[in-house]
Amino acid sequence: MRSITVNASKTYDVLVGGGLLSQAGEKILKACGGETAFLVTDDVVDELYADIVEKSLSTAGYTTIRFVFPYGEQSKNMETYVSLMDALARAKLTRSDVIVALGGGVTGDLVGFAAATYLRGIKLAQIPTTLLSMVDSSVGGKTAVNLTAGKNLAGAFYQPGIVLCDYETLKTLPQEVFKDGCAEMVKHGVIQSAELFELLKEPLEPQMEDLIARNIIIKRDVVEKDERDIGIRQILNFGHTIGHGIEKHSGYTVSHGKAVAIGMAITGRAAWRMGVCEENCYLEIIDMLKHLGLPYTTDVAAEALIEAAFSDKKRSGKSITEVLPEKIGKCKLHSFNFDELEVFIKLGLED
Ligand SMILES: NC(=O)c1ccc[n+]([C@@H]2O[C@H](COP(=O)([O-])OP(=O)(O)OC[C@H]3O[C@@H](n4cnc5c(N)ncnc54)[C@H](O)[C@@H]3O)[C@@H](O)[C@H]2O)c1
Repeated sequence: MRSITVNASKTYDVLVGGGLLSQAGEKILKACGGETAFLVTDDVVDELYADIVEKSLSTAGYTTIRFVFPYGEQSKNMETYVSLMDALARAKLTRSDVIVALGGGVTGDLVGFAAATYLRGIKLAQIPTTLLSMVDSSVGGKTAVNLTAGKNLAGAFYQPGIVLCDYETLKTLPQEVFKDGCAEMVKHGVIQSAELFELLKEPLEPQMEDLIARNIIIKRDVVEKDERDIGIRQILNFGHTIGHGIEKHSGYTVSHGKAVAIGMAITGRAAWRMGVCEENCYLEIIDMLKHLGLPYTTDVAAEALIEAAFSDKKRSGKSITEVLPEKIGKCKLHSFNFDELEVFIKLGLED
């Protein structure tokens, strides 16, 4: 088992290992305390893993309550958030109790936001069960729900008390969902670690514990420098400006991971054409996406992507910060105004 400590506004451990679900109760009790554990999960993960976690919580001495919502991005909204908040209030959860988020990034983001806002903040344990949520969303404290006007528009920075990544849960993950997490690992490799990038060329399954831990360390190191995303944390948004545009344009039918993969490919090509990186860097990104079965092209028009970028919450005033690869393992931030971004996106889209 690996243990990674995050020193943000709250200090907490991220544990990565096989079989952690059945140890969840004791680990959460040690990190968070409390008498009642309010377990939240979606209906797919509920069938697979909620009983194991609930049993472990009860064995550790918790009184348990379970809240299940329909799986998928369309549940990451105000309606589910409000019914969850009502359920927390009906259960009379107090600030010394703990909410346990069991599932992928949708569950983690939704439950994290509820934990941040119920009684102005209640203890939170994250048990990510998708690759994406293990290597990215469960660590770093970004929580949110989507509004009709856009994705993640209502949210809070709220760090968990503990994160438990049991990579054995990945065995039941559909291949397409697994690939979404691969996209985030490619992102971490390109922005920060040529070594990680190389490891992604090898079979992934035998190195799962190490890969998850490496990704968490990369994210941890960035988050510790800039928890509230006003500077260097923006480096984690590589591929996201265009990715969010693709997600939005598809009505969120293209998953976050696949959209980011396409975003990285287009951004990489534009960076090469701007002279920021060598052609080989861009080609390496494309080869990696192909190798992992991820998409790298889009039919969405430049105008739609630009419009989405400028309605994105990551814009500041009249400019938008893009993450440009200089070589594999090194990226830089670059600020574009509207006209410059238009040129940039068109460079990335042109054959
Ligand atoms: N907070 C952050 O920093 C951050 C970072 C990246 C992405 N996100 C968010 O994460 C979300 C995407 O997360 P996701 O890809 O995990 O999606 P998800 O939570 O919807 O999970 C994908 C699917 O896999 C199923 N599933 C989960 N675990 C499973 C398992 N072990 N076996 C079988 N099926 C399982 C779920 O029921 C769901 O149907 C998006 O909303 C995105 O905005 C947040």
